[in-house]
Amino acid sequence: MLRSTLLAAARSQGVRRLVEANPLTKPVVKRFVAGTTPEDAVSATRALRNQGMHVTLDHLGEDTLDAQQADDTVRAYQRMLSVIKAEGLADRAEVSVKLSAVGQFLPTDGEKIALENARLICEAAADAGTTVTLDMEDHTTTDSTLGILRDLRVDFPWTGAVLQAYLHRTEQDCRDLATEGSRVRLCKGAYSEPASVAYQDKAEVDRSYVRCLKILMDGAGYPMVASHDPRMVSIATDLAARAGRDADSFEYQMLYGIRAEEQRRIAAEGGKLRVYVAYGDEWYGYFMRRLAERPANLVFFLRSLITQ
Ligand code: FDA
Repeated sequence: MLRSTLLAAARSQGVRRLVEANPLTKPVVKRFVAGTTPEDAVSATRALRNQGMHVTLDHLGEDTLDAQQADDTVRAYQRMLSVIKAEGLADRAEVSVKLSAVGQFLPTDGEKIALENARLICEAAADAGTTVTLDMEDHTTTDSTLGILRDLRVDFPWTGAVLQAYLHRTEQDCRDLATEGSRVRLCKGAYSEPASVAYQDKAEVDRSYVRCLKILMDGAGYPMVASHDPRMVSIATDLAARAGRDADSFEYQMLYGIRAEEQRRIAAEGGKLRVYVAYGDEWYGYFMRRLAERPANLVFFLRSLITQ
């Protein structure tokens, strides 16, 4: 109930104005967002690299209905990728892109524009010597995102995608994508979805996550295990061992600011660990999804507003 209220608020412009206008929100946002500028993102990347970790950088933004804003987002990614190249970070940092930030929802030719824009970002990534992963948004976008993935992979076969274990369809999507050269980031799913398309019960989502993980680990692609759940991490380690995978043939991924100690432990023990680092001004939707994932975050947030 709390989760769905927060996820509804994540898409409400009214609540957005209230939360953004409150100066006391900023210190809490900082826990999950590395900063507003590419320099902030690069300095977080350097710090994580120095602890043996990898990074995927997300220039925050989503759901744009403005073609100019979509173009600006492409330019922001191009700038970020040129900084990654100039700083010699391409072996450590890739980028994650939400197609709704680059035009997928534009009323005319949205999908076509998103594909063209994503292609520009992939070109910049290829020039920098790194990769792109497409984030996955709510279920109404899944077919479109996987279609764009297919098109991008013709020229940029290393383009990755996120699959969400809470969707009923995802086991089949995992089967389709568990192929040579395919990079799949498996997460549980962060949006509010109806029972007609998604498991509602946490235990069911977890069981689906394990089934999907097994398909990916047994397949020929490159699984990216995006979860902070200690059980999922441990099951992934066992499944990888059973499938005869070495440490370089899959990776663990977690979000910036969440279970940082566990991130360091995995990296110190020789696992490949990538941190999803979000930066930029458009933090509202991302921040609200982080609150929705864990009630304790909301309590922490509300307490910080009251006690300041
Ligand atoms: P679960 O929610 O069961 O949490 C397990 C434990 O992790 C909790 O008990 C707590 O200790 C800790 N934890 C989890 N979330 C926390 C939080 N917000 N704050 C503090 N502690 C927390 N989703 C999506 O729909 N599309 C996408 O493209 C992506 N992309 C993505 C990339 C990466 C790298 C990650 C790690 C996650 C995503 N997600 C996502 C989000 C994902 O779907 C999911 O909502 C969160 O990862 C939380 O699920 P867990 O698997 O961590 O387990």
